Order: sequence, then C-alpha cells, then structure tokens
Amino acid sequence: MLSDDLKRQAAAMALTEVQPGMRLGLGTGSTARHFVDLLGERVRDGLDCLCVPTSEVTAAQAAGLGIPLTTLDETPELDLTVDGADEIGPGLSLIKGGGAALLREKIVAAASRRMIVIADASKVVDPLGKFPLPIEVNRFGLGATSRMVGAVAAAHGATGAVTLRLGKAGDPVVTDGGHLILDALFGRIFNPEALSADLHNVPGVVEHGLFLRLCDRAYVAGANGIETMDA
Ligand code: A5P
Repeated sequence: MLSDDLKRQAAAMALTEVQPGMRLGLGTGSTARHFVDLLGERVRDGLDCLCVPTSEVTAAQAAGLGIPLTTLDETPELDLTVDGADEIGPGLSLIKGGGAALLREKIVAAASRRMIVIADASKVVDPLGKFPLPIEVNRFGLGATSRMVGAVAAAHGATGAVTLRLGKAGDPVVTDGGHLILDALFGRIFNPEALSADLHNVPGVVEHGLFLRLCDRAYVAGANGIETMDA
C-alpha cells in the first residue's frame, strides 16, 4: 500500500476521536493535510468545531474547506491536537519540524489537553535521531548560534553536521515566525531530555523539534493495519 494511503488511514482513525463542539489544533505536513481534508468533509456535513492551525499553509487549507478557525489568543485552551511527526520514538517522544512549523506546532500541542500523532509505520524508530533535528533560530547572530548549537550537538554525540536549511531556490527557509531553521544530524539521540534542556540554554534558539511528554496517542498505519500506541 502506498505511504499516502497509510497516512490517510491514520488520519481517519484520529477523526473518530473528534466530538461535536471540540476545539482542535490542526497540524502541518502531508499526513496532517489528510486529517484536515477529512475534517473538512465532516464540517460540510454539519460538524461544529473551532480550530487553531499550526501554520499558514494549514490555515489556508482549512479556510478553503470552510473549517471555522480561531487563535490561541481567543481560545487559549484546546481539547485535541492532531499532527504528524518525522519520528516517533520511545514513550511517544517525537521529532517534528520537517515542514518548518515546529514552533507553532509545539505551542498548539502544549495548549491542548490531548495530542494525537498520525503517521505511517516508517516513522517509528528507537532511538530518535536518524532524522536531522530541526532547530528554529533567530536570524540575529546566526553564526554564533550555529557554533553553540554545534557544540551542544557534539557533546550529545552527534554523528553529522549542523546545517542551515535552504529552500529549492537556495535561499534560507524562513518560518512563519520569521526565523531560520538549523538541522542537526545526531544519528542517535541518547538523552532527549538533556538535549532539550541544553538546546534551550543556547541564546538565539527559539525552539527545537524534540516533542517530549506532549503526545498522548499515536495512530500508526502499516501493511498489517493501524497500531494504536499510548504514552
Ligand atoms: C511540520 O513542521 C512537521 O512537524 C510535520 O508534522 C512532520 O514533518 C511530518 O510531516 P509529514 O506528515 O509530511 O511526514
């Protein structure tokens, strides 16, 4: 079965958890896109919900489908966020940010009572770290921040480089918040909690893509069906 079909199956499972009147966080990426599409069908059929998108791309998709949108300023507490992930590790620890939306994704997930991740089975790993960890940084002081992030990565046994993410035209990718993205290849992340704390201690780091103790459930679609993983 195609990976895209698996993503849609996982999205359909998450949709079964949506109840009328819920306040929802809408994730970003190719898997979350399926969820937003399916939610749009339910809204068209009369479902009442209010949603906070985690990126401008998702906001545009949801608005186009007629999904009612709000902000965390107007609605600071959400019932459920459904999002994708780049890696799902032990204890439902996650790497996110492959789509450069990690900052808003983390803020929205943290504002939600529950977070469900939807993915195809290729995303499940042990330990985390094959996918380069996205780190969102302020533009000011990029060279100095990169050096300090590199030192943290080396101290945590990184096997690869820290690189500035570039777009197709060769220009730096700029996030919805106006920041840049560094990608740090670790190979294996042995102590995600300590790495998280050390990255947060680097001035200029706005946020990183380690999502720890945020995800409550994952629906993982594979060749043999959908696995439910609970934290
Ligand atoms: C967006 O910034 C990311 O966190 C995505 O949720 C993640 O990259 C998963 O994307 P896919 O569903 O496209 O694999």
